[in-house]
Amino acid sequence: MNRLLVTGGAGFIGSNFIRYILRKYPDLRIANLDALTYAGNLENLRDIEKDPRYSFVHGNICNPDDVAKAMAGCDSMINFAAETHVDRSIHEAGAFVDTDVRGTFVLLEAAKKYKIERFLHISTDEVYGSIEVGSFKETDTLNPSSPYSASKAGGELLAHSYFVTYRLPVLITRSANNFGPYQYPEKLIPLFVTNAIDNKPLPLYGDGKNVRDWLYVEDQVEALDLVLQKGILGEIYNIGAGNEEMNITVTKETLKLLGKPESLIRSVKDRPGHDRRYSVATEKIHALGWKPRHSFQEGLEKTVQWYAENEAWWRAVKEKQAAYQEWYKKHYG
Ligand code: NAD
Ligand code: DAU
Repeated sequence: MNRLLVTGGAGFIGSNFIRYILRKYPDLRIANLDALTYAGNLENLRDIEKDPRYSFVHGNICNPDDVAKAMAGCDSMINFAAETHVDRSIHEAGAFVDTDVRGTFVLLEAAKKYKIERFLHISTDEVYGSIEVGSFKETDTLNPSSPYSASKAGGELLAHSYFVTYRLPVLITRSANNFGPYQYPEKLIPLFVTNAIDNKPLPLYGDGKNVRDWLYVEDQVEALDLVLQKGILGEIYNIGAGNEEMNITVTKETLKLLGKPESLIRSVKDRPGHDRRYSVATEKIHALGWKPRHSFQEGLEKTVQWYAENEAWWRAVKEKQAAYQEWYKKHYG
């Protein structure tokens, strides 16, 4: 691997991945193609932007010309670019179908043309839908609930079909909920940490007992690097941390770490189609040689500290999201 194309590298996981890879591989060059949607932020990469091994291409994965420009000279790629927030997909699903399905198709076509040697496509554990007990294996049936997870399922099925039909060297991961530095403050943990710092209410959906498996982003990027280097082509890998927590527990732990009162918790109506629990079986990624290093508590402490120390970053981001916040307030009260 000499030159890696990262798509969606200005977002949360993508920017953490780029930083990690540049640190780990001194000879690797990276091109980052990102449309800079509301979720893309070049501040996430400020510390590495002048690294001569890194270049940024402002463009859209739905546009074949942008993709061709970014892919030129690359031998491998990792696709993070997506619309990613479930509530936004409930509000307006069109952008999800465009980027998460059609954008994936444009990338696959280009990868075929430019003879990409390894194509890692980032999917999500949400494609399985909800599970009451036990954990989903990679071979289980997909049963997505939201326009977000259905679009992600469409994108990854298309990616897999390019392996089966054209032998395009595709790998797929299905990850649990990530958390950590640079996560956009619309997702549960960064929203609640930043609201709590400002003594604003923490809007907890439904009974607060939905369960998510919390994967610290530094563990996630290590797993993705491993799959990109050593994964078997055509295979799908679940990535989970075994850190299953109810939302109410996450909320109380966050408040405790910040020394804020539980009276900030506000019960609001439930998210439509809200999946109760996500859980994935992780034997396959463990067998490849990865295990998470962070417990939920360790990851949360680091995350809370990062947001406490980087107020300028999240205040600037929150100021720009007024229109979405208006819809959110109307919907959840
Ligand atoms: P994010 O929303 O923080 O970032 C998405 C990035 O993609 C942004 O930089 C945005 O500008 C870019 N982008 C969006 N549409 C684009 C387009 N049409 N062309 C080019 N760039 C575009 O997302 P994230 O949380 O970092 O998630 C990254 C990937 O990981 C996504 O594919 C997501 O589905 C998947 N995933 C995320 C999680 C999680 O918990 N965050 C868990 C599992 C899987
Ligand atoms: O499971 C992986 C997925 O995790 C990724 O594919 C998605 O991109 C990512 O957004 C995330 O989806 P979730 O819907 O699980 O994450 P979110 O942070 O939006 O919500 C986590 C839980 O918290 C969920 O049960 C809904 C609840 N919640 C969320 C918000 C934003 C609240 O109770 N209140 C809130 O304000």
